[in-house]
Amino acid sequence: MKITFYGQNTLLIEVSGKNILVDPFITGNPLAKDKVVVDEIKADYILLTHAHQDHVLDAEVIAKNNKATIVSNYEIAMYYQSRGIDVHPMNHGGSWSFDFGEVKYVNAVHTSSFADGTYGGQPGGFVLKGADKTIYIAGDTALTMDMKLIPLSFSIDLAILPIGDNFTMGVDDAIIASDFVACNKVLGVHYDTFGYIEIDHDSAKQKFSDKNKDLVLLDIAQSIEI
Ligand code: NI
Ligand code: MN
Repeated sequence: MKITFYGQNTLLIEVSGKNILVDPFITGNPLAKDKVVVDEIKADYILLTHAHQDHVLDAEVIAKNNKATIVSNYEIAMYYQSRGIDVHPMNHGGSWSFDFGEVKYVNAVHTSSFADGTYGGQPGGFVLKGADKTIYIAGDTALTMDMKLIPLSFSIDLAILPIGDNFTMGVDDAIIASDFVACNKVLGVHYDTFGYIEIDHDSAKQKFSDKNKDLVLLDIAQSIEI
C-alpha cells in the first residue's frame, strides 16, 4: 500500500491496483495548490470523511474527471449523487467489501456541513483493510473512547491522525489516540494549512518518540509505502 500526502487531510492511497483519494482539498490549500495538479489526479474512488470545505473542495471536479465513485456517509453521498456523481453511501459502524479492500465507516467527534450550509450528516473516519495492510483514517475528530473499538476488530498498521489542534485533536491527544487504536506508527495530517493549526514539527516528533512511537510528517506530494 502506497500513501501520498497532498496536504491537510488529502491522501492518495494506491492499493490492489486502485487509486483511493481521501478528502481532496487542493485548490484552496495555499501549501498544495502550486504543487499538485488537480486535473492530473487519477482516482477510482473518493472517500470523504465529512462535508467541511477543507475536505471536499475538489471532490466534484476530480470525481467527474475520473468517473470516480464517492464513498461517504448517506447525506454526503446523496449531495453528490444529485450532482450526477456515482456514490456509495455508508453510515457509522457499517463495512463494505470494495474491489480494493474492506472499508468501515467509524465514529468521529466533530461537525459536518457543506460550505453552503447543507447538512452533511455526522462526521466519520475510515478503516481501510487492504490485502496486506490496514490503515485507520481518523478524519477530523477529537480524541474519543470509540477509538478503543477499532483494535477489537482490526490490527492497524498505520494510524492517520489529525495533529493540528484547535479544530481537532492536537499532538498530545493524538499520542493517546495511537494507544487507543493500538498502533505506534502515526501519519500526522491536518496541520500547518491555516494559522490556527500551525505546529512545531520537531516538538511533535519528539513527543511521539518520547513514548516510543513514530510520527511521520510528509511534504506535500511525498509518499510512504507500508
Ligand atoms: Ni472539519
Ligand atoms: Mn478539517
